[in-house]
Amino acid sequence: MDSWVRVLILLGCLFPVLVQCRVRHYKFNVVMKNTTRLCSTKSIVTVNGKFPGPTIYAREDDTVLIKVVNHVKYNVSIHWHGIRQLRTGWADGPAYITQCPIQPGQSYVYNFTITGQRGTLLWHAHILWLRATLHGALVILPKLGVPYPFPKPNHERVIILGEWWKSDTEAVINEALKSGLAPNVSDAHTINGHPGPVPNCSSTDGFILDVEPGKTYLLRLINAALNEELFFKIAGHRMTIVEVDATYVKPFKTDTIVIAPGQTTNAILTTDRAVGKYMVAASPFMDTPVVAVDNLTATATLHYSGTLSSSLTTFTRPPAQNATPVANNFTNSLRSLNSNKYPAKVPQKVDHSLFFTVGLGINPCPTCKATNGSRVVAAVNNVTFVMPTIALLQAHFFNIKGVFTTDFPGNPPFAFNYTGSPPANLGTTNGTKLYRLPYNATVQVVLQDTGIIAPENHPIHLHGFNFFVVGRGLGNFNPKTDPKTFNLVDPVERNTIGVPSGGWVAIRFLADNPGVWFMHCHLEVHTTWGLKMAFLVDNGKGPNEVLLPPPKDLPKC
Ligand code: C2O
Repeated sequence: MDSWVRVLILLGCLFPVLVQCRVRHYKFNVVMKNTTRLCSTKSIVTVNGKFPGPTIYAREDDTVLIKVVNHVKYNVSIHWHGIRQLRTGWADGPAYITQCPIQPGQSYVYNFTITGQRGTLLWHAHILWLRATLHGALVILPKLGVPYPFPKPNHERVIILGEWWKSDTEAVINEALKSGLAPNVSDAHTINGHPGPVPNCSSTDGFILDVEPGKTYLLRLINAALNEELFFKIAGHRMTIVEVDATYVKPFKTDTIVIAPGQTTNAILTTDRAVGKYMVAASPFMDTPVVAVDNLTATATLHYSGTLSSSLTTFTRPPAQNATPVANNFTNSLRSLNSNKYPAKVPQKVDHSLFFTVGLGINPCPTCKATNGSRVVAAVNNVTFVMPTIALLQAHFFNIKGVFTTDFPGNPPFAFNYTGSPPANLGTTNGTKLYRLPYNATVQVVLQDTGIIAPENHPIHLHGFNFFVVGRGLGNFNPKTDPKTFNLVDPVERNTIGVPSGGWVAIRFLADNPGVWFMHCHLEVHTTWGLKMAFLVDNGKGPNEVLLPPPKDLPKC
């Protein structure tokens, strides 16, 4: 090969140019940056000084190397949310689960290959509450020459929804942990980093989505908020949903999208309305009245080229905060594409049938004055997960004893009316417990919300796998009758699923990825409180069925 050709290919791979190349290199400098939002300035943790952070572009089958250099005072780790990480758990990112964090002044190269996936995902910090500002899009294009299973849109746009606090988010959660109470809700929602005009700060810095009339746009929508599920709407336009969590779905039209933290949605927007400005809105979805949320709507503008600057913006009213039917309508429309090219490989038989309660609890806290000596906690099957001080994957690989146990219960320790009146004792037990699975086991987990303190919608995320959402219902799961209603043909496949408030969901997956895989509520406050556990998947027998050894630069604790 001519050397200049090689230089061109190398340059193409260094920059997010979408040429064919197998290996893509990115450099993430984690640095502080002064940023003004809501008319006040604060210093935030960013990647390369950007908020939201840079987009990672890759194609299916590419190997991606991201060198993360930590220039801030916090320990840092980054998670590539939804990437399967087949045999490369070392690159998954959750601090103290698959790696020790990258300490100030240190670096780590995340090295993984994207296999069997294409679509929109996100990356985010996976330690403390740093993901509030440390997040960005991960766009995986199909292999070169492989079309989308829908007409190719003219253009693509990334849209990241977030939450903004005026004060430092680490101070917000530290304050809450000291008091035993819930942390302050955010001060605004954001669309691509901008809240749009809000009361007391009308600086018109809403995000502008510039479009040309008569075109189609693939909107790659990401919810990077910490604690809130969101509705997303564009005035006067319906969108066609074609993908969620980087899996194709049967296309359907909607005027409202509901999206939980950690979830992604690809929607096609056709700019077929009169030239003008149309309001884009992101507003909270919360159907438990006692749980406080930030009730401000973030607004952006869909701006057709050729619009007169004097023209008024077409307004849209966001759904009510408690619009459960609107959310259900969207959720119930999601079906796997299940085509010949993209079949839904739903496990038809189940080796491990698990029943996990997810919810809150109350434990003693002698130093918590505001609550008279108790604190709010969260648990799965009444176990409040205790973070280890050595990464679990390391402890597993190097056989370090005393870091975790493998006795995570497959059922709640005692049965009660989960969605009815709470039991007398709201206390939980503490532990670093894992549930162990043989390689290639088929697993069903029924996730049952509890009404302890309050029923709530919990977006549960599983690392290392996609799962099929085979069933969903209100009240307590009935093991006799509910499985008869399961969809084992074309259920939606994803990595994060909302357990409905006061209800349950059933998911199935194939444990074909050896390693330690975190499962937790993607509402950061609930993760902090302990709504998390992990699966330990053993190696298989074949040479391609074992966890690879850790890279040399794996951070030390
Ligand atoms: Cu997106 Cu463990 O998280």
